[in-house]
Amino acid sequence: MKNPFAYSNYVTGESFCNRKKELSELLRYIKGSQNVLLYSHRRYGKSSLIQQVFREIRKKNLNIGVMHIELYGTISEKDFITRTFQGLNQLESNFERLLKSVSNALKNIKLNLSIDSATGSTSVSPSFEAFNEKIILEELMKILLKYSQNRKLVIVFDEFQEVANYTEEGFEKRLRSFIQQHSNICYIFSGSRQHLITEMFNSNNRAFYKLAESFPLDKIETKHYIPWVRNLFSRKNVHLHTERIEEIVARFENHPMYIQNFLFHLWEEPGEKGFSLKIINKLENAIIEKRSLEHTVLWETLSINQKKTLKLILLNNGSNLFNADSLKSVDLKTGSLVTKALSSLIKKEIIVKNGSYLIQDIVFKKWLQKTLSL
Ligand SMILES: Nc1ncnc2c1ncn2[C@@H]1O[C@H](COP(=O)(O)OP(=O)(O)OP(=O)(O)O)[C@@H](O)[C@H]1O
Ligand SMILES: [Mg+2]
Repeated sequence: MKNPFAYSNYVTGESFCNRKKELSELLRYIKGSQNVLLYSHRRYGKSSLIQQVFREIRKKNLNIGVMHIELYGTISEKDFITRTFQGLNQLESNFERLLKSVSNALKNIKLNLSIDSATGSTSVSPSFEAFNEKIILEELMKILLKYSQNRKLVIVFDEFQEVANYTEEGFEKRLRSFIQQHSNICYIFSGSRQHLITEMFNSNNRAFYKLAESFPLDKIETKHYIPWVRNLFSRKNVHLHTERIEEIVARFENHPMYIQNFLFHLWEEPGEKGFSLKIINKLENAIIEKRSLEHTVLWETLSINQKKTLKLILLNNGSNLFNADSLKSVDLKTGSLVTKALSSLIKKEIIVKNGSYLIQDIVFKKWLQKTLSL
């Protein structure tokens, strides 16, 4: 039987665990054309949730057009426009009709056609020679508005925080002004650099201020993992005890991607007699080992005070870092050194502040504990 666990791309269907509450809430926003800001730490399952909600829309035959635009790697307004044009084929599967609507909107503008070698689908995007992005963006938004007049749409801009790095003057403002006119479209802005994306939407001097309903995505609760894991393993005639599942989930702190990663490897083990703690330890070590080179390189890039601060976080579970005894235990002379190091570590996305300070990547944390013999 095929391994149902996967961890390098989004997951849907049987590989997707629960999230029932999130799915129904998201669907409610989509039906009401309410914009949403979906954010979480890395690899918590934002893109999977979006794909799963798209599946539900199709399964329930809801008359809602869906479009998923991946903005990762875009560095300018042009890139944004090109990606969005390329995504139009998700709304219009008939290529001739698509070409017609685009060329009607972009009269006199040369179009580039391309075929996606993986899916075979054909897309169209404008060539920008001699035309300014402002005009093309406006036309693109008119096309979206037109499609939304026939049926509701949901348009996802994934990794939306990339937009904050574009250097074009006023792009966020212009985009906002179009989006506000689209009353039949639910825009989902999704992103993982929590700080950046919440700042874009929550600070009153930014264009996207209060444009979307906040939708933080949390980890998956243990009680949801238990039946999901048990069911999938029972197909292989392996009975996994609740305590074993709890143990695995706890080791990876409920993190969706790492739990799938672990279960993928566990699935490959002969488990008719159940899985011993020895096997669980072996697989956990293998996961840590596999990324040890990457983590060594990361460690080497850190300053001595950043290294000490990481140790301080581990020793104190992320809180009371400025206490004199704590500082002394890692040989840090003053609290201001810690403040500085914390701020650099947050910028590098190695740690996050969530009440206390946490090391984002659980496997990096495990590697540190091992390496520093903590
Ligand atoms: N509902 C789920 N059930 C089980 N595993 C999940 C679920 N959602 C996500 N995962 C696991 O997490 C991994 C990452 O998911 P996904 O790419 O959707 O996250 P993301 O938040 O969009 O990540 P990124 O921050 O890289 O954009 C998946 O490959 C899968 O292993
Ligand atoms: Mg994603």
